[in-house]
Amino acid sequence: MAGFKTLDDLDLRGKRVLLRADLNVPVADGKVTDATRIERIVPTIREIIKVDGKAILLSHFGRPKGKPDPEFSLEQVVPAVVEATGHPVGFIPTDWNDVADVKKAIDDAPPGSILVLENTRFHPGEEKNDAELAKRMASLGDIYVDDAFSAAHRAHASTEALAHLLPAAAGRAMEAELKALEQGLGTPKKPVIALVGGAKVSSKIDLLANLVGKVEALVIGGGMANTFLFALGLEVGKSLCEKDLSDTANRIMETAEKSGCSVILPIDAVAAHKFAANAPHRTYGMDAMDPEGMILDVGPQSVDRIKAAIDEAATLVWNGPLGAFEYEPFDAGTVAVAKYAAARTKAGKLVSVAGGGDTVAALAHAGVKDQFTYVSTAGGAFLEWMEGKTLPGVAALMTK
Ligand code: 3PG
Ligand code: MG
Repeated sequence: MAGFKTLDDLDLRGKRVLLRADLNVPVADGKVTDATRIERIVPTIREIIKVDGKAILLSHFGRPKGKPDPEFSLEQVVPAVVEATGHPVGFIPTDWNDVADVKKAIDDAPPGSILVLENTRFHPGEEKNDAELAKRMASLGDIYVDDAFSAAHRAHASTEALAHLLPAAAGRAMEAELKALEQGLGTPKKPVIALVGGAKVSSKIDLLANLVGKVEALVIGGGMANTFLFALGLEVGKSLCEKDLSDTANRIMETAEKSGCSVILPIDAVAAHKFAANAPHRTYGMDAMDPEGMILDVGPQSVDRIKAAIDEAATLVWNGPLGAFEYEPFDAGTVAVAKYAAARTKAGKLVSVAGGGDTVAALAHAGVKDQFTYVSTAGGAFLEWMEGKTLPGVAALMTK
């Protein structure tokens, strides 16, 4: 691929390959609920172990704030890696301060082993792109392969600094993602509608300001929508909402208006008093929301409004569920819109590209994951790619 080294450019035989994966997969009750990010890296793992290399998986998981926290241990995803690869997988714990034991465990593992190292975010140096931590990581391998497109928007030690310390290349999943996105969205057919939802409000809100300049319509749902509704002076009760981002939200709506992008916010919502499956709930118009309620899904009128907007579009990009889809019945809005977009795609009326850990899980839950034009493992990285930004994890792999 233009500008990149790939596995074709490296001699993997017998090498210790540090494979930056994105094992940040959705987990509920200690079980991986959607293994797409793991399944996509299997081709790279196979190429490594076929020639007696050691596939040493490096990844973050969740946001443990720079210190070890059992809740965020990568040990819990090991069974899913075993299942996806059909191969035994070793787990090597570490706090990333002293890696002598890790090095020994890697050296002791037989050729062709698959190993998972502990969460890179257990050390504060990871998110700081710290040179010392990257050096420590580099001491554990001969080659660096990055297959974590979905984390490529982060300039972290394991995605950026490390890439400069060893012979580096993109893995097969990274290569495939970049090719597919270029094909589907390089020059998207207009009008383009973007659907952005999910709970990572503060880390995604800024990129909406750029996105509104690139798309004709922006649907905001999920936790993200509440911040906008609040900024407009509407009652959001006890919902997830970042009130201090009101100014940002208002600025985005102004930018959208100037660039001719229509912003579509929920006009009704399903709210409950508890964040739990089948919690007693009611549908409210956005002008009559229960001040004690928590918004957990978009309402049926909003769904109709979103469907109508999809009818106007030639291309759909989607990141972030519209509600708390992991709990029934608060999956209804996300499922209805997912099915509708899939049907429009099938009818040849829509190019549909969706991405993100939870988004992929939601599409799978709706039974339409295979009916979208393309499904990316990446959420934030995918949106930043859409904005035309250089992704640090990708830039670090460019041939100079
Ligand atoms: C993701 O899930 O989008 C990636 O794994 C990055 O995670 P982060 O938003 O916590 O950096
Ligand atoms: Mg995620």
